[in-house]
Amino acid sequence: MKRLAVALFVVAGLGAIASNARAQAADPAGQPRGAQVYAELCQSCHGRYGRGDGPLASNLKAPLVDFTNSAWLGGRSDEVIAKGLGTASHGPMTIASALKPEALQDSIAYIRALSIPGKHVSVLAGRDIYLASCQGCHGAKGDGQGPVATYLTDPKPRDFTASKFVIDGREEELEKFISLGAAAAMHGSIYMPEWASRLSPQQIKDTVEYLKIFKQAKP
Ligand code: HEC
Ligand code: HEC
Repeated sequence: MKRLAVALFVVAGLGAIASNARAQAADPAGQPRGAQVYAELCQSCHGRYGRGDGPLASNLKAPLVDFTNSAWLGGRSDEVIAKGLGTASHGPMTIASALKPEALQDSIAYIRALSIPGKHVSVLAGRDIYLASCQGCHGAKGDGQGPVATYLTDPKPRDFTASKFVIDGREEELEKFISLGAAAAMHGSIYMPEWASRLSPQQIKDTVEYLKIFKQAKP
């Protein structure tokens, strides 16, 4: 038990380093210039994942829109968004007029990539949570082979790439399982902890959406 506690501590540290390295590596949203413009010019207000919760947001008069809500961006064309940034919503700052047209276009493509059509989740947020809190057991590749898995016998951390592990259609069930932990949810392993005290329902939803990536990686 003591050995496990030490291993968990070490893994938590490794997770933080890995997540920094990943944040700088290619973004799944796949808009390198957009990602850079966004990080430097937009994130301070609109937030890391586009949720309108950047460090400056609390100084603003009106609440900011949530770019991870696909219902919001879905109804607007790029032209309408670009026009809004040059005039009404960013009037005093006219962010769009200060940017090269290509950089503006890429940053709009980037904020579109922050949402998933028909859903209100953030895969980027899910990735950061997974790297910080789950990979120690479930592995960076989701194969259940994280460094802590060596210390666990039966049951092993779930292998998210296995064909018998199903996510589609089971999202709510998995959210509940992750919230409660395996012991409370299904008399399962005490080593699959409860996360409701550390993660919000939205963060748990984001993480479940991220788990789907491991399925795509292994068809
Ligand atoms: C100083 C804070 C601040 C910064 C920096 C900032 N924004 Fe905004 N943004 C706002 C405010 C305030 C609004 C208006 C409230 C709203 O609609 O959410 C807004 C609205 C928006 C909207 C909605 C526009 C519409 O049509 O209603 C988009 C899209 C947007 N910003 C994108 C960006 C992009 C892209 C960047 C970086 C290039 C950026 N913002 C930088 C504060 C900021
Ligand atoms: C200390 C190790 C450990 C950590 C950390 C951990 N898990 Fe687990 N997880 C397990 C084990 C062990 C099981 C198998 C439980 C069982 O079958 O009783 C499991 C099972 C699961 C399952 C399978 C549910 C099902 O119905 O098949 C999901 C989903 C899951 N974990 C998600 C997560 C998420 C998300 C995180 C991070 C927020 C996380 N786990 C962190 C050890 C861990």
